[in-house]
Amino acid sequence: MTTSKNTLSKLLADTKFSHECEELLSCLPKDKGFFAEYLYQYQGFWYPPNILEGVLYSQKHFQAKDSDIILVSSPKSGTTWLKALVFALIHRHEFQNPQESHPLLDNNPHTLVPFIEGFQFHNQDASPSIFSTHIPLVSLPESVKDSSCKVVYCCRNPKDAFVSLWHFVKSLVLEEMVGCTMEEMVSGFCRGSSVYGPFWDHALEYWKESRENPEKVMFVMYEEMREQPKDWVLRIAEFLGCSLTEEEIEKGVLEDIIKLCSLENLSKLKVNEKGKLVNGMETKAFFRKGEIGGWTDTLTPSLAEEIDKTTEQKLIGSDFRFFC
Ligand code: A3P
Repeated sequence: MTTSKNTLSKLLADTKFSHECEELLSCLPKDKGFFAEYLYQYQGFWYPPNILEGVLYSQKHFQAKDSDIILVSSPKSGTTWLKALVFALIHRHEFQNPQESHPLLDNNPHTLVPFIEGFQFHNQDASPSIFSTHIPLVSLPESVKDSSCKVVYCCRNPKDAFVSLWHFVKSLVLEEMVGCTMEEMVSGFCRGSSVYGPFWDHALEYWKESRENPEKVMFVMYEEMREQPKDWVLRIAEFLGCSLTEEEIEKGVLEDIIKLCSLENLSKLKVNEKGKLVNGMETKAFFRKGEIGGWTDTLTPSLAEEIDKTTEQKLIGSDFRFFC
């Protein structure tokens, strides 16, 4: 077994929880998990206990500032890429020659943009500070809702997000997957019992919020960003109040940001090929194919249909549609 598997296993299983979390866990609904023994349902969404502990902690202690930027996604929906792009955008004036010298060349995007439920609020003095989270809208810390901080939500189609999660889990914890087959994992995903699931409710809530409160929440799709990165980076910059000037565009700043943050570039960097996050996860696990519709090489037609049927049911009454 590799070190990362040992470390992750410890993270997910052996953590000592706070008294508050232990008490809560004892009365929450639970379901069989696929990389922790159980998932627990809290405020309508499912979590392994260690992540729930982080959610509770952030609800209690995270103080968003008006200038903060919070990047939100369901797991495996483009979080790493969005973190890199927004970090590069916000800090573009400090690094004129990003291909030669830039924090993203030596640091994984998850190190530069911490998860608030990962107990890492260490950038809280910077302005703007960029944070990220997978926490659903309903459970965000109150200060995120009450302040004027901006939220960018990245959504991906459920089949690709599921397949990405499957490969991620397999690369990190296969031996601890409590005997879970892909059929069981699809079944859990579709009944909502997946890390931060139900996947659909997560996206739908943020989508609705982005329609009702467009100054606060911007909703982007991974696939649309893949197809037209320039357009979307410009739109994100505008939303965040840091639009690129004509002069910057003429000088190639937009292309530089996109190139720096590309899957091809980031995945080949030493820090992402051989590095580890503070929690022990190997950084290479965050970079795979980044395809649109790549699920076809992993899901059988019947499993794909099971996910499609769930999507259909979840979208009844909504005019929201996933990319494909
Ligand atoms: P695949 O597993 O389909 O390849 P997350 O960052 O939310 O964990 O999502 C991981 C997915 O985003 C993976 O998808 C990964 O390959 C893809 N990804 C990671 N970095 C990327 C980048 N810089 N550009 C585009 N896609 C990226």
